[in-house]
Amino acid sequence: MQFAQKLFSKKGVISRWVRMKSVVVISGATSGLGNELLRTLLSNHIPTIAIGRRIDRLAQQFGADIQNLVALEADLAKSTDLQWLRNLEMCLETKEFRQIVLLSNAGDINPIGLVGENAADEMEKSLNVNLLAPMLLASTCVRLAKALCAELLVLNISSGAAHKPIPGWSAYCSAKAGARMFFDTLASEYPETVVVRHIDPGVLDTAMQRQIRESPPARFPAVQDFIALKSDGRLKPPSLVAAEIVASILSGMPK
Ligand SMILES: NC(=O)c1ccc[n+]([C@@H]2O[C@H](COP(=O)([O-])OP(=O)(O)OC[C@H]3O[C@@H](n4cnc5c(N)ncnc54)[C@H](OP(=O)(O)O)[C@@H]3O)[C@@H](O)[C@H]2O)c1
Repeated sequence: MQFAQKLFSKKGVISRWVRMKSVVVISGATSGLGNELLRTLLSNHIPTIAIGRRIDRLAQQFGADIQNLVALEADLAKSTDLQWLRNLEMCLETKEFRQIVLLSNAGDINPIGLVGENAADEMEKSLNVNLLAPMLLASTCVRLAKALCAELLVLNISSGAAHKPIPGWSAYCSAKAGARMFFDTLASEYPETVVVRHIDPGVLDTAMQRQIRESPPARFPAVQDFIALKSDGRLKPPSLVAAEIVASILSGMPK
């Protein structure tokens, strides 16, 4: 929270955004694909609100004074502390953005294990990070977009697991499928305001894949296939995927 408080209180950081037409809200920007997305957004001078835990990492990475970044601390696995949503609202509500881009990226593959062996609190955390947090973020963003007469573009970082049952990933598959349906329903409710795109980034060389490769076969029967993807050099670099996604955001921004 220190980083967020410092940026909030810093004259100029938010107020300078008044003349900006677009803002990006991204969840899970401290590692993996999200961190590459954030790096690419900032190198293109796009005002960005990053939501995640361990945001002090962003201060170390980008410097605490970076002009276009506001970082909001949030553990998305906890559904009881929603101060981050109120902070997000404060960042957006008084500005004159014509477009809000929500990059729903934070994700957690855990619990990895067969259904009968997963603990209830692990299943709850998975649903909180992979489904409830995207719903809460979208709910706040659409309300503000309506109030600002702005467009809301949702880029849902989805997965093949949203369509295909993968033994050992029941909570992740279910939440990813649920998020997809949730965003499609959102778009159907607000056709004049909301555009939703689902992005399956492919198999990425990130911490999530490392966790998958480290799973015991009894918990994740296909583990050898994922070990082979890494050893055969078939994982995609997240920086390449991030560059494609940011290029598509830039091409659709209001001039
Ligand atoms: N990796 C793949 O092969 C693959 C394939 C298809 C889809 N995806 C999707 O791509 C997206 C990015 O995944 P990735 O591969 O970059 O994974 P990653 O390296 O594990 O990064 C996940 C991000 O989500 C954040 N996160 C996780 N739990 C959180 C929590 N409780 N509160 C706040 N933030 C939390 C992480 O924060 P911390 O830095 O604090 O951990 C991190 O920034 C996910 O939606 C994933 O489902 C990945």
